[in-house]
Amino acid sequence: MIIVKLGGSIICNKNEPFSFNEGVVKQIAEEIADFYPEKKFLLVHGGGSYGHPLAKGYKIREGLKKENMGGVSKTHQAMLELNKKIIEIFLSLKLPAFSISPSSIFIINDGQIVDGWIKVIEEFIARDFIPVLFGDVAIAKDKGIDILSGDQIISYLAQKFEPEKVIFLMDVDGIYDKNPKVHKDARLIEEINEKISLRQEAAGIDVTGGVRNKIDEALKIPCPVYFINGMVRGNLTKAIKGERVGTIIKRS
Ligand code: ADP
Ligand code: IPE
Repeated sequence: MIIVKLGGSIICNKNEPFSFNEGVVKQIAEEIADFYPEKKFLLVHGGGSYGHPLAKGYKIREGLKKENMGGVSKTHQAMLELNKKIIEIFLSLKLPAFSISPSSIFIINDGQIVDGWIKVIEEFIARDFIPVLFGDVAIAKDKGIDILSGDQIISYLAQKFEPEKVIFLMDVDGIYDKNPKVHKDARLIEEINEKISLRQEAAGIDVTGGVRNKIDEALKIPCPVYFINGMVRGNLTKAIKGERVGTIIKRS
């Protein structure tokens, strides 16, 4: 089984609320169609310009308050809207994508999953469905309610399911020594293992919380983790085949 993260940065234009990159999602679905059903897939997508603006506006990360209960629900509904658009593209290509709401099966604490009912995911995969989860609001032990990111879901599921590989689709070519959108001289790091990543960090690797969190989570995953540019046709195919592309994180 292969787990693929459709990052919010590729399925949406993060600067434009409620934007959806239909063409990119179609391209990803077409590449997956070449390998299905011989390979099994589990997909997780991000919040992009559907989840993030609402989560911010309703201050969901500050936890549950009387005045943000409606906002919690609206943030979830926005994610369902985005999820529906993605599922429909997969269905149009005859790929049996099936929506599973993370808020219905996970409980979190400090942003991390502490309780999950994942039997249902396993059973859908066993029947050749392609479960599609997403970053969502979630019941939180510490704050009442919080945001559960798609990256945390992947880390949790990859540790439980032991997939063949995990592939993160981003809007840049992989993990760089500094943000490639800001620094023209940023250098792509082709491989990261525990040792190198720590050395890089000590040297002051310049990454946002987002990318740093992805690396930290990837290092907990017991299989190879690819970070590739999901906007480039053919990259996902290469990663599925195990060809050299983007950044590969392997625990040493
Ligand atoms: P996604 O929405 O795909 O899950 P994020 O938006 O959280 O991902 O992270 C991807 C963004 O992180 C890229 O658009 C890139 O500009 C930025 N970024 C910052 N630092 C780095 C880095 N060192 N390597 C790669 N990307 C980086
Ligand atoms: C965020 O999920 C979910 C919400 C804001 C509701 P992610 O953290 O996985 O989203 P992206 O990939 O950064 O957009």
